[in-house]
Amino acid sequence: MAAQRKKKKRADATGKKLEQQQKLVPIFIMGQRHLVPDSLTIQKAMEYAGYQLVRGCGCRGGICGACGTVFRLPDSYRVEVGLACQTVVKPNMYLAQIPFFPANKAVYDIEKLSPTGADVSKLYPEIFKCVGCNVCTKSCPMDIDVMEYMARAIRGDVAGVAELSFDCVMCGLCAARCPAELVQYNMAVLCRRLYARHIAPRAQHLAERVREIEKGKYERPLRALKSADIKDLKRLYKEREIEPEMAEEDWTPESNDYL
Ligand code: SF4
Ligand code: SF4
Ligand code: FES
Repeated sequence: MAAQRKKKKRADATGKKLEQQQKLVPIFIMGQRHLVPDSLTIQKAMEYAGYQLVRGCGCRGGICGACGTVFRLPDSYRVEVGLACQTVVKPNMYLAQIPFFPANKAVYDIEKLSPTGADVSKLYPEIFKCVGCNVCTKSCPMDIDVMEYMARAIRGDVAGVAELSFDCVMCGLCAARCPAELVQYNMAVLCRRLYARHIAPRAQHLAERVREIEKGKYERPLRALKSADIKDLKRLYKEREIEPEMAEEDWTPESNDYL
């Protein structure tokens, strides 16, 4: 018991020391002032301040787009935006999260559409309201030239939109700022789907692999794995051939049992 108390005291002292070493800065989360370490991202700072993130938090790695955040800094009239999991706090930032932005989303059957500007503008006729202000591009945390992909959509360049919007994480920050009330990212996802379904060349190796699966090429090894006991599964897992780091492009495993 005494040893446990001692251990807890030591841990508390270490925690306090760490806290003292960290520089704390004030931030305002939805109007409430909190002191948080200046090295934290907005997301971690919110948790440090006691918030439990139920909405507005997903991958924590800048991929899912769930953590759109809007903030202002002192001495600036600007509204700033960013992903909470990627943006580091700044002293006196005043922030609120936009975990979801209500957005117009067309319903369609991709098989019945053609990859043309005509079909895109039938589903999203409002794209012609774009005033070319570039606010969307400035708001994009992925540094996508959103205004340019909107221009390509207006010109009917479906492949161009698909290419330029490829890194979009659907955070909705562009739509939140658009003076023409457009939903750029839903239109862009339509173009990427059209591109994938109707324009991109078919991957021959994938078609070949599907044919092999249909012919039952992997039935035998799969059955063997399913009937193996836990000891054998562990051994097989440990012995599996792994692609070495920095392997050449043409690297292939020595055993082609599963190829
Ligand atoms: S913010 Fe809206 S109106 Fe402005 S360039 Fe982007 S899409 Fe066009
Ligand atoms: S294009 Fe819009 S929705 Fe996509 S990442 Fe940029 S700001 Fe977010
Ligand atoms: S939590 Fe996924 S992008 Fe921030």
